[in-house]
Amino acid sequence: ADYDLVVRGGTVASGLGTMRCDIGIRGGRIVALAESIPGGAATLDAGGLLVLPGGVDTHCHIEEPSRGGYTSAGGAPATEVTVQEESFGSASVSAFAGGTTSVVCFVPQWKGEGILPRLADYEARAARGMVDYSFHQIISDATDDVLEREVPEVVARGIRSLKVFLTYEPLHLSDEAFLKVLVTARRHGCLVTVHCENYAAINWRTEALLKAGLTAPKYHAWSRPPVVEREATHRAIALAELVDQPIQVFHVSCAEAAEEIARAQHRGVKVWGETCPQYLALAAADMDRPGFDGAAYMCSPSPRSAEEQGRVWEMIRRGTLDVVSSDHCGFSMHRPGAGKQAGGTAVPFRDIPNGIPGLAARLPILFSEGVSKGRISLDHFVRLTATNPARLMGLAPRKGAIAIGGDADLALWDPKKKVTITNALMQHAIDYTPYEGLEVTGWPVATVRRGTVVMRDGVVQAEPGTGRFLARGPYDFIAPRGLLPDGFDAAPRLE
Ligand code: URP
Ligand code: ZN
Ligand code: ZN
Ligand code: ZN
Repeated sequence: ADYDLVVRGGTVASGLGTMRCDIGIRGGRIVALAESIPGGAATLDAGGLLVLPGGVDTHCHIEEPSRGGYTSAGGAPATEVTVQEESFGSASVSAFAGGTTSVVCFVPQWKGEGILPRLADYEARAARGMVDYSFHQIISDATDDVLEREVPEVVARGIRSLKVFLTYEPLHLSDEAFLKVLVTARRHGCLVTVHCENYAAINWRTEALLKAGLTAPKYHAWSRPPVVEREATHRAIALAELVDQPIQVFHVSCAEAAEEIARAQHRGVKVWGETCPQYLALAAADMDRPGFDGAAYMCSPSPRSAEEQGRVWEMIRRGTLDVVSSDHCGFSMHRPGAGKQAGGTAVPFRDIPNGIPGLAARLPILFSEGVSKGRISLDHFVRLTATNPARLMGLAPRKGAIAIGGDADLALWDPKKKVTITNALMQHAIDYTPYEGLEVTGWPVATVRRGTVVMRDGVVQAEPGTGRFLARGPYDFIAPRGLLPDGFDAAPRLE
């Protein structure tokens, strides 16, 4: 046949505007966009629906082996090895259920170890999934061997972003180690993505809270107020500016951190800001529940307040924050000895793993709170959830757009459908969603990944092992500005 699949009768929203058109797909790619496309071995009726690029979620923690999960500064990370409950298989189902077709997740590095053996292990895990994927390489131990011998090999294997944490036990880097990573990234043409919170500040606050007997989950928010995020954001940008190395600040939760990004952007610094649905739909007050229940909302940075949510929306509207990712990092609530309960239910907030699931909820929440409530346009929604993340991570134009030659990754979206979010609808391996009971308007009714219909009316069907690794080569978007003088070694050894 002329086309393997024709998507007919929909309103296509590409991020550059909307138009009524049909989409002709062959060999997994979009090969025709026209008012009316006849034929096709199969057709998908999109009458009355929006057709969006499949979601691109560039911040997902999937099947990441860790010691004690993401425990807070000063916390005692369990020595026991845990792999997150979400596997690439279950995460793929959840992604497709929520209209997402590509993810970028994290290859761990444990302190005292090199990178490459874990990378090989992680590559094998990810290859079992169905969602298309790429990786950020975490650097938690910036030794010369890692930076000089292993990172070039990581880059050769198609990874173009290094991830660093300025907090967490035992992941946090010193300023000196962070500088070394920036220099290495610059030399090899990588983006650096950064978790910006001040380790020592959180640790100090936490000690004081625990000494005073204030140990409940709600004190998680008190242990890390906006100032610790603002300070680390400022510092990360300053060091990146010094090295002339582009960075993306992950999960910006508050206006004061976003203002640091805006000020740097106005100076011409190549810094981008990401936020997540939890900073638009959750608040610190959610953690104020009896006993262990508040743990369900514990993520870092902490959810803030309703007023802060409004300010984050404003920073999205201004364009300071131009990517919305899920930061999906699921820990079940009700499994004794595992997930959020890895240390039991009687431990202080410091020893409860940080992170919440949100892979399937990301698009519906942002669409409903953003587009349906009139805070952002449909085009802006598409840019935040697909076009911008694909571009920043070097996945464009293959991903993140509806364009001829690009992969046929689509979300067919019913903008009027009203749904009450439940955990079952998330179709993930985690036993809860922090968004239980949230009412949304707008819902994905079908998902197409490279021309294959992988979800229809909530039913996911995809063969394990069909997700493809998205190898990333060099790309201009993240090139340094070239501010360092000729002959200056941009990558001096920082001994
Ligand atoms: O609390 C969070 N965000 N957990 C996931 C790890 C991270 O910091 O992104
Ligand atoms: Zn330390
Ligand atoms: Zn983080
Ligand atoms: Zn994260």
